[in-house]
Amino acid sequence: MKKILITGGAGYIGSHTAVELWNAGLEPIILDDFSNSNEEVLNRLEEITGKRFACYRGDCNQRDILDQITEEHQLEGVIHFAAFKAVGESTQQPLAYYKNNLGSLLVLLEFMRDKEIKNLVFSSSCTVYGQPDVLPVTESTPRKDAESPYGNTKKIGEDILLDYVKSKPGIRVVALRYFNPVGAHPSAKIGELPMGTPQNLVPFITQTAAGIRQKLTVFGTDYDTPDGSCIRDYIHVVDLADAHVKALRFLFEKPLDFYEVFNVGTGKGNTVLEVIHAFEQVNNLKLAYEIGPRRAGDVVKTWADTQKINTVLGWYPKYGLEECMRDSWRWQQSLK
Ligand code: WQD
Repeated sequence: MKKILITGGAGYIGSHTAVELWNAGLEPIILDDFSNSNEEVLNRLEEITGKRFACYRGDCNQRDILDQITEEHQLEGVIHFAAFKAVGESTQQPLAYYKNNLGSLLVLLEFMRDKEIKNLVFSSSCTVYGQPDVLPVTESTPRKDAESPYGNTKKIGEDILLDYVKSKPGIRVVALRYFNPVGAHPSAKIGELPMGTPQNLVPFITQTAAGIRQKLTVFGTDYDTPDGSCIRDYIHVVDLADAHVKALRFLFEKPLDFYEVFNVGTGKGNTVLEVIHAFEQVNNLKLAYEIGPRRAGDVVKTWADTQKINTVLGWYPKYGLEECMRDSWRWQQSLK
């Protein structure tokens, strides 16, 4: 069974990807510093899959831990999730973000070169497009100056990978540009565990519905959209996880010194108010929310053109907004 290192594998997207890798006959090996996740996730992964995945505590800046992993496991590939990802925090702590997000990528690439591990899937983000001039967004839509140091680490990460592949080191890379990951595993055993006050919409919705937050504030309804609130492409985290499996399988067949980028979204945009109403309807409840001022830096509208990932990887989303809202609420209720 091919073994795949998942950096940040105990995190939100990483843990869901571990499940889908196992379901596809690949064995995840997890590396996580648990700065934004907890070890209980490993027990939940065992409950879902029946397998206790090997897990190493540490981060990718620690080359000795990476070397220890390859003393114990023959790795066929790496999926690199591990990164700090809070947009607002990154503007307060830019050096920590550049050091962690880019430093870990550089150490990982040197490690992969030395150990002759040839397949890498890199976690990128639609944030590299900023506010697109034309919608939907294709992979050739021009990237824009990042709105935050976090977004810049994704953009620079992609540039590092492209330059590195051009130097013909003997590696294959896919960068996946995620739109907005939401939802949770249908088992409600794993899901998003935001530390502190959630910055993202859906965890704030579910915590408001759970009574943890008083009220949700909609950040502006005076935008040029059908109901005035911002539009995003919300993709179920299980669909997103599946895209990583298909990206790896694609890489196994490709020649060396290969680099390809894919948008991962549903191809459909929803406004903030549509998300709220879907949540209320699917879960048969009323959400306490108010309309507030715009949030600085928000993109007004963005959603993916998914033709490339559909046709090249044969990947299609299985879940829609309703399932995202159903599964995120079931997960929140399981946290009581
Ligand atoms: C979505 C919409 C808000 C909270 C960010 C990162 C991106 C990626 C996903 C990591 C916006 C509105 C939100 C609230 C609201 N992260 N909103 N009230 O900003 O599209 O993307 O998370 O990879 O890189 O930039 O996601 O969930 O924060 O916001 O009205 O309490 O919900 O204004 O329109 P965003 P989000």
